[in-house]
Amino acid sequence: MMTSNYYVTTPIYYANGHPHLGNTYTTTLADMLTRFYKFMGKETFFLTGTDEHGDKVHQAAVKAGKTPQAFTDDVSNLFISTWKELGFEYDRFIRTTDEDHKELVKTILQQIYDQGDIYFGEYGGLYCVGCERFLTEKELIDGKCPDHQTAPQFVEEKNYFFKMSKYQDRLIKHLTEVQPDFIRPERYRNEVLALLREPLEDLCISRPKSRLTWGIELPFDPNYVTYVWFDALINYLTGVNYPGGKNYQKFWKNCEHLIAKDIVKPHGVFWPLMLMAANIPLYEHLTVHGYWITPTGKMSKTVGNVVNPLEIKTEFGMDVFRYYIFREMVFGLDGTFSRESLETRYNADLANNLGNLVSRSLAMCTQYRESKVPTATKNSAALGNLPERAEAMVKESIALFEDRELHRALERIWAFIDEVNIFIDRTKPWGLAKEEKLAQTPNTETLDAVLYSQLESIRIIAAMISFSMPETSKKIFKMLGFDEKSAAKEATVKSALEWGRLQSSSRLGEITALFPRIEKKKIVMEQTTAASQTTKEVKSEQTTETGLIEFDDFAKVSLRVGQILEASRIEKSDKLLKLKVDLGEQSGPRQILAGIGKHYDPEALVGRKVCAVTNLKPRKMLGHESQGMLLAASDEAGRLELVSPGTSLLPGSRIS
Ligand code: ME8
Ligand code: MG
Repeated sequence: MMTSNYYVTTPIYYANGHPHLGNTYTTTLADMLTRFYKFMGKETFFLTGTDEHGDKVHQAAVKAGKTPQAFTDDVSNLFISTWKELGFEYDRFIRTTDEDHKELVKTILQQIYDQGDIYFGEYGGLYCVGCERFLTEKELIDGKCPDHQTAPQFVEEKNYFFKMSKYQDRLIKHLTEVQPDFIRPERYRNEVLALLREPLEDLCISRPKSRLTWGIELPFDPNYVTYVWFDALINYLTGVNYPGGKNYQKFWKNCEHLIAKDIVKPHGVFWPLMLMAANIPLYEHLTVHGYWITPTGKMSKTVGNVVNPLEIKTEFGMDVFRYYIFREMVFGLDGTFSRESLETRYNADLANNLGNLVSRSLAMCTQYRESKVPTATKNSAALGNLPERAEAMVKESIALFEDRELHRALERIWAFIDEVNIFIDRTKPWGLAKEEKLAQTPNTETLDAVLYSQLESIRIIAAMISFSMPETSKKIFKMLGFDEKSAAKEATVKSALEWGRLQSSSRLGEITALFPRIEKKKIVMEQTTAASQTTKEVKSEQTTETGLIEFDDFAKVSLRVGQILEASRIEKSDKLLKLKVDLGEQSGPRQILAGIGKHYDPEALVGRKVCAVTNLKPRKMLGHESQGMLLAASDEAGRLELVSPGTSLLPGSRIS
């Protein structure tokens, strides 16, 4: 298999800002890809950091009443502590004020200067402080920078210039012939090719100290500091200790830069041309994603629609945030972050789909096989074709991750989760368990095979989500009985491709809830009760006379979709079943007694959706409390069926 290494970088974020959804996304992506390539068996290096020189940061420091150094110390510490809190496993946090970085910038500048690719000249142009670069007339919209909505200043001064045009043809050739997937997705490659269609102006790489001192001094002229982009891009080399370091040898040729669409020009044009001039091999990939926006447009403090990743983490957990951002954004295009779609995905994809598969499978093994991994019977027809389906999922999903089709890669894993859930519904392990119980010489092989397939599928799913949802993956491995050390070994492609790793008779771990349901409909519920209270004085006399009830009377009954989590018989009663029903409530599932014992086996009810009355006063039957009632239909022949809502409705959905 692949032995080469993997090196991933995020942009180094300007030290005038703070962690927010946008930069958190790119950093989360780098973290996920690092874990993915570890899963693939590669050695990895993950670099992130802060960009600390230049006008913009200097202005922010002045505004804060601090020296630029003290100011950037604070900001970079804020980034470091936030990234720690969010669990990112980077290998180095680089600051452009680090000594080794300043040294390297000087070395490269001197080299390019000595070979004659940097010259002194005069230039006047339109400078945008927000972008920290000169803009061409073409880039402006109504005379303003489209990204910052400000008019650039005209700046004219004597400066040093880098001869970009000298290497232009070589870059075009690289993009079109040598490595067509150098910049991806393709729309951004096309954007760069369009920029290269016209002769490039040489890049101004200095700022006179008379105007700005906060920067790296030019090694060949003490009156100037280095232009911030020329300084910043070189961080990707400093990070792996170019030129002499081991990491440079090991990682540079497999370097992938992750950025958003805002900084394609510096990364897709300036940077490769700088590398060519310095005679350093080019990075391997520039991977560009779109922007996160919100349903009310661009995030802004004044609009009050800023998404705070730390808050999302506290409320939902980091894995939910990770799943959502990778699943929701079509890679390369802008994505809309909304609470509503986050909650929907949480309930549908995580609580209902993945969470339910894991909890019901483990509950069955607890109930039917005393919390042990059943015997693996490889050739049983009862396995279905789950081993082959699992293998197909692993291979296809990996290919999609490699192509950076992240949302489709996750979709592929979730399609398999659906398949396993359908397999369970079809094979009905509860029915098999009942047959086993009744038979005189029980055949345990079929149920063993069905349960074993469920557990193996779950193990493979846990491996396949180990890089996008590391905490959840660990929790599932624990429930499957792996200790921390062996769980780490399971999170590899090799294990994911090998059916049958779970040892028969080994003990399963304790069942824990992966995604406790969140209360989405709470507000609706409160409104309903309020409305029914204001119309309390209803005309009850009329009602009794006609046999009809007022709408308000009906509205007093709260009906909701529920899902049965557990079911058992009550001693000394052939009629009463004790059920644990999830009604989507924060307080957890309720206990409901139902007189359906003659019509249903308790095992067959687990997982079933039902309609429940949720505002009945609790009452006791045979010493057990019932906190609600299930709706059932019966006919004259004495048949009875529970009323079932559609399977796509989540527990807690209101019935009206
Ligand atoms: O440009 N959606 O730093 P920066 C998605 N210092 N990603 C977003 C985003 C959004 N709404 N907003 C920001 C700089 N980002 C330079 C980089 S690199 C040598 C120097 C992310 O603080 C995205 O990764 O402006 C984007 O490219 C980056 O933050 C810009 O960060
Ligand atoms: Mg920016």
